[in-house]
Amino acid sequence: SDQSEFDTDVWTLTRFIIETGRQARGATGELTQLINAILTAIKAISSAVRKAGLNHLQGLAGSVNVTGDDVKKLDVLSNDLVINMLQASYGTCCMVSEENKDLIITPKDKRGKYVVCFDPLDGSSNIDCLASIGTIFAIYKRVSEGEPTEKDALQPGSNIVCAGYTLYGSATLVALSTGAGLHFFMLDPAIGEFILTEKNVKIKPKGKIYSLNEGYAKYFHPSINEYLKHKKYPEDGGAPYGARYVGSMVSDVHRTIAYGGIFLYPANEKSPKGKLRLLYECNPIAFLIEQAGGVASTGTQRVLDIQPESLHQRVPFVVGSPDDVNEFLTFVKKHQ
Ligand code: AHM
Ligand code: MG
Repeated sequence: SDQSEFDTDVWTLTRFIIETGRQARGATGELTQLINAILTAIKAISSAVRKAGLNHLQGLAGSVNVTGDDVKKLDVLSNDLVINMLQASYGTCCMVSEENKDLIITPKDKRGKYVVCFDPLDGSSNIDCLASIGTIFAIYKRVSEGEPTEKDALQPGSNIVCAGYTLYGSATLVALSTGAGLHFFMLDPAIGEFILTEKNVKIKPKGKIYSLNEGYAKYFHPSINEYLKHKKYPEDGGAPYGARYVGSMVSDVHRTIAYGGIFLYPANEKSPKGKLRLLYECNPIAFLIEQAGGVASTGTQRVLDIQPESLHQRVPFVVGSPDDVNEFLTFVKKHQ
């Protein structure tokens, strides 16, 4: 017929979450509601990132748009969207955002049993040049009773109930896991739904690409420079690795999952703990990478095993194909 290519039984992200929640005993629908709230925020961020609504665009006049209002910066707008949608879901008791110094406590009448740690718009240096950016989140069950405290948010990544990232790339994609594999969903703007496009994604055991900000080589530990030299001038006469670095972690990580290889943000003399934040950047990505069969390490420890000490703490971060990350770790060990 004329509509034969039209799928009448599509798997949306919501359907996927409902179905997997039903199968897990005791599911009340609270997590589904919470994830739906995040998806609403993500769809709105995606629209804003793509500059939909021309009258909101910033013109030559500067920071004031044609209606005379101040233009809300994209990262502030994204943060407001995620916080407001999450609080409206009745599923959270508190949140941690890259944009807020303190724990965000949900108003008493809107509280639920989950804690969400998120970076509403990661890769901020890429916003103004229109390169890809992303949203990252991790969901935990609260561990205290009564008033929510930082303790609820300071849980090791191994406690994650659900994590995901959105890549606002050439298409908008959500990568999500509730602990039973990593799945990709693509936004179909025609119906405003995320459609399951790849189930049980697995990373290659070994890739051909390394990814880091090599401009900091002067400040790296010798073990890292030795590893990089090995990638560029393989002693066994093999082909050197390709280099890719967007500078937007979600992009660099998504490519690493899709093509294989290694992504690093190691410590350096200027940033002794690296740059990336444990709670809402490293932990969710580490959880997703492990679900895909990859490895996520600080260089000396599994990322998901770290007991967090503060909301915005940083850790050195190495993720990717198991053979690549394990090879990197042999260089670290050699220098200890
Ligand atoms: P941000 O949260 O301020 O955007 O910083 C995080 C980003 C990551 O997406 C990316 O991996 C890293 O910063 C790049 O940093 P650098 O410019 O030092 O290479
Ligand atoms: Mg960030």
